[in-house]
Amino acid sequence: MKKYRVVAITILICTVLVEATCNGKNETVEVPATASYRDTALPVEERVEDLLSRMTLKEKVAQMAQAVIYRASPQDTKTWALGSILSGGGDHPRSGISAKDWLDHCNEYQKAAISTRLGIPLLYGIDSVHGCAKMGGATVFPHNIGLGAANDPELVERIGRITATETAAGGIHWNFSPCIAVSRDERWGRAYESYSESPGIVARLGSAYVRGHEAGRLSDRETIASCPKHYFADGGAEWGTSPHGIDRGNSSLPEDELRRIHLAPYIAAMKENPATVMISFSSIHNEKMHSNKQWIDVLRSELGFTGLIVSDWAGHTEIDGPDKFAQAINAGIDMIMIPEDYQLFITEVVGNVEDGTISITRIDEAVRRILTLKFEMGLFENPFADDSLIPLVGSDEHMAVARDAVRKSLVLLENKNTVLPLSANSTIALVGTKAKDLGALCGGWTIYWGGYSEYETLHPWLEQNSARAVANNERVNGMDLLTAFTERRGSTSILYSEDGSDITGADCAVVVVGEKPYTEMTGDTDSLALSKLDIDRVRTAKGQGLPVVVVVISGRPLILDSILPYCDAVVAAWLPGSMAGPGIADVLFGDYNFTGKLSVTWPESMDQLPINVGDGKEGLYPFGYGLSY
Ligand code: BGC
Ligand code: BGC
Repeated sequence: MKKYRVVAITILICTVLVEATCNGKNETVEVPATASYRDTALPVEERVEDLLSRMTLKEKVAQMAQAVIYRASPQDTKTWALGSILSGGGDHPRSGISAKDWLDHCNEYQKAAISTRLGIPLLYGIDSVHGCAKMGGATVFPHNIGLGAANDPELVERIGRITATETAAGGIHWNFSPCIAVSRDERWGRAYESYSESPGIVARLGSAYVRGHEAGRLSDRETIASCPKHYFADGGAEWGTSPHGIDRGNSSLPEDELRRIHLAPYIAAMKENPATVMISFSSIHNEKMHSNKQWIDVLRSELGFTGLIVSDWAGHTEIDGPDKFAQAINAGIDMIMIPEDYQLFITEVVGNVEDGTISITRIDEAVRRILTLKFEMGLFENPFADDSLIPLVGSDEHMAVARDAVRKSLVLLENKNTVLPLSANSTIALVGTKAKDLGALCGGWTIYWGGYSEYETLHPWLEQNSARAVANNERVNGMDLLTAFTERRGSTSILYSEDGSDITGADCAVVVVGEKPYTEMTGDTDSLALSKLDIDRVRTAKGQGLPVVVVVISGRPLILDSILPYCDAVVAAWLPGSMAGPGIADVLFGDYNFTGKLSVTWPESMDQLPINVGDGKEGLYPFGYGLSY
């Protein structure tokens, strides 16, 4: 009996040893400090090959995993030797949201990553889609739709640079931006993440952003990896092709149109050599992009992209059929934003290689790209960020750029009887809660995934975090309209009224209307009408016999027929961000002229949608429209 037990145990030990050394490597083997991959004098390519040759299959697959912080602790990161970690839209460091909180948090994860056998540093990613807007104190810029109206590549390049710097200040290495979608239908909840319906504008601004963000010097502390997204034709999905409406839907455009409209920004952006690209949730001709080898190959072979391809958030689950991870990897995705079931991912993908579903050549190719980026960023030498960039977060200089961006993004749609600029000594009534709701002035992807509002109830999926932001005082650094107008003119010259009824003594009313924050599919809608509350505010103010200036805060054109007869001036202000108040005041008071032009066609009614330049339809205001003083 005892003899059998000894034999059984011996067999067990042998099996374990064979497994561990399969692939020729053993996870328990220590790596000498003199290993070539640690030698900074060697070229990156050589270091990558040396490191790759020392890795077990499991370690390779773990490099391809991007896990989310609410599922993977620093300890898990170490145990599983994970290659990358992200904060989703709603995930913050446990201690708080200041730059220092982010720095300590990211360094803690990094410490875990480099205490593994091979000591491979991790890449930490977040969405700084309009500045590092999940970090307290950061500079929040206008969302892309506003930057499209400004249409100033130099400005966008600076914004890319500042965003990279402020994100890097928190110890973060990777920003899932810019979104270079060409939004062709305003019913899409991500229309505001798109610079324009025109591929030319998106191409120019998207490339400028990458140029500023990476500056061709990824090893510098203040430049981090960018990520043009979502490849591709996310903005070309048609209404009704997804359960939400458009988001994650399908584009049935013929190939030449797909290339002309939606591939064009990638052709331009790839010339700037971005470190990474993210794949789209959406489909082309009913083939999910996450398994679309044909189009992912185009990115590599035709567009010459050599960097890392990452999936979108659990994007593999969009794919039909079994072996979703394998399908995504075989289609050419190098890293999977899993983001939750990373243990399953590692076990399953190791199994896929062992049974031949994925070749080891494909795995090596993916891991090579991931390691190359980590070496190029200098993370092996300097895995930890220090606090030297923190003083730059929300600095006066950065805020001045944000203010400039607000001024340039404003589009003057109407100006009857030259009611604008506001006269220097008039008394002005600001009407509507948006005049003092900095959260609403920033839109989605601010502090939380869906943003926050002090005064409005958001979509049921977003309201809890919005309420939390307000309750915990997790607010954006910046200034709303009421504060900025009052600072400029003094409190006796600026009145505030929520509904527009009690504005006696004012010479003019500025009514702030528009959308409340939303993100992705929660913003898909087939009605872009103003709310009844907003319509009433405009009509009530006009009813007091005053000139009425309407400032529209929105991620896209709204249908204005309900208020136009009651407005003297209308300004499209988009989602202006931190410097909403000062930037808008600068232009309304005439210190600066309006220079913004519509980067999208403004529809007259919902039944005109989709409506885009060149399609022969006439909207309320054409593409390129914008008045000035
Ligand atoms: C979005 C991406 C984003 C990712 C990580 C996804 O839902 O589509 O744009 O980068 O989440 O937050
Ligand atoms: C995450 C986001 C992500 C989204 C996808 C949210 O819970 O926080 O980062 O983009 O889910 O649906």
